[in-house]
Amino acid sequence: MSHTVVIFGASGDLTSRKLIPALASLQRNGLLPENTKIVGFSRTPMTDDAWRASLRATTEDHAGNASFSAESWEAFAPSIHYQPGDISSAEDLARLKERLEALEGGRPTARVYYLATAPQFYAPVVTALGSLGMASEDSGPRRIVIEKPFGTDLDTARSLNAHIHTVFQESQVYRIDHYLGKESVQNILALRFANTIFEPVWNRRYIDHVQITVAEEVTVGRRGSYYDSSGVLRDMFQNHLLQLLMVTAMEAPVRFNADAVRNEKVKVLDAIRPLDLSHVADAGVRGQYAGYTTEPGVAASSQTATFGAIRLEVDNWRWQGVPFYLRSGKAMSCRTTQIVIGFRQPPLELFAAENARSQREANRLVIQIQPAEGIQLHFHTKVPGDGMRLRLTDLNFQYSREFAGRLPEAYEPLLLDCMTGDASLFARADEVEKSWGIIDPFVRAWQSVDMAPIPVYEPGDWGPAASTAWMQAQGRSWFDLCPVLT
Ligand code: BG6
Repeated sequence: MSHTVVIFGASGDLTSRKLIPALASLQRNGLLPENTKIVGFSRTPMTDDAWRASLRATTEDHAGNASFSAESWEAFAPSIHYQPGDISSAEDLARLKERLEALEGGRPTARVYYLATAPQFYAPVVTALGSLGMASEDSGPRRIVIEKPFGTDLDTARSLNAHIHTVFQESQVYRIDHYLGKESVQNILALRFANTIFEPVWNRRYIDHVQITVAEEVTVGRRGSYYDSSGVLRDMFQNHLLQLLMVTAMEAPVRFNADAVRNEKVKVLDAIRPLDLSHVADAGVRGQYAGYTTEPGVAASSQTATFGAIRLEVDNWRWQGVPFYLRSGKAMSCRTTQIVIGFRQPPLELFAAENARSQREANRLVIQIQPAEGIQLHFHTKVPGDGMRLRLTDLNFQYSREFAGRLPEAYEPLLLDCMTGDASLFARADEVEKSWGIIDPFVRAWQSVDMAPIPVYEPGDWGPAASTAWMQAQGRSWFDLCPVLT
């Protein structure tokens, strides 16, 4: 079967920075299905050749010298086509339809419609695809990929789902969260379900708490106007952080397919204890980096959180009483995404006399998602010499040492999956809605007029001082360590 990837929003950043480099890389590695066509649609008037030339430059830029191959690009470029047009014009979309039919030449073709547009166009494009009969699967599968943000709260996500379902079946819908395309995130499933040594301790009996941190060094930069209405909760928590929580906390699926995996993930969301507004304030800390309100596009009096830390309780047999701390921020000390499984202290501390409390940290499993992808197990070792002095040492697995070559970019496996019809790594309608249901109360509480002014932190800190104090008040501390890149 042939494939066509139709990109709406073709002249945007996402297309040139992520989608085309990912497709080019799949092609270079021999993974792109044969007879794949890429058709870009957006308003900028351009010929096929002009679009190819501009994509060549951006892809080369993105890849750097090491992984761009002129020869492979020459082989890839003829599969790229461009159709100028306005998403809101029925005639332009009808012309796109004719162009696709001409390019496909009546052969059975699996088509992916990729919505890389601004979110306000998601619903109108879906309507147009429906009225032009472009969702019908008479001549091959039709799938639609929808980027984040999928709604801005539970209500908008629900109505977007309902609208999409008037045209597409749920099995045709691929809601993308690029975190699930990361090798090190998929590896959490391997770590947990392809090994037997972790699962017996992966529960409330041995685990004290879990910390999931997505720290970014960058500020909001040029995205101020989007970010100011979104904030860290909508931008990072509803999607990426909850996805990391789900794969960490889920039960083993009975088989590795889209429905079995997503059923288990949704059960985790179902088990998260709902919070009412009166408890939300204690269940989290927010912050804003100094200088945020002078960023372009940001309101001078903005109270938008650029940092957030929240505590969620998963009420099921495995996790009852084990808090999950989720934390993310911009303008933090360094870029690191990591999941720290904090184990309990031994029941009897035999060597307490010779080791100060600060030296008696509990065991940790640190799953480094990026940029130093790997896993470290921290455990105590006797320092050679007299007595029983201890030091925390580690077993250290690093992708860079173990596997040659670069890790694939998250969009590569995800694009391949939607072309071949595997939705395991995409969010289902209920998953997205339940995620909003968990995050909405925090958004509402943090926007409430009763909240004190937002605490400010200096760029380069690990969020506001209140975040450290909040953890300490719960008898715990954040694991603040910037990864060492080798
Ligand atoms: C995006 C957010 O979804 O994820 C950005 O909108 C954020 O604000 C980005 O910077 C982080 O992705 P990654 O892959 O760099 O961790």
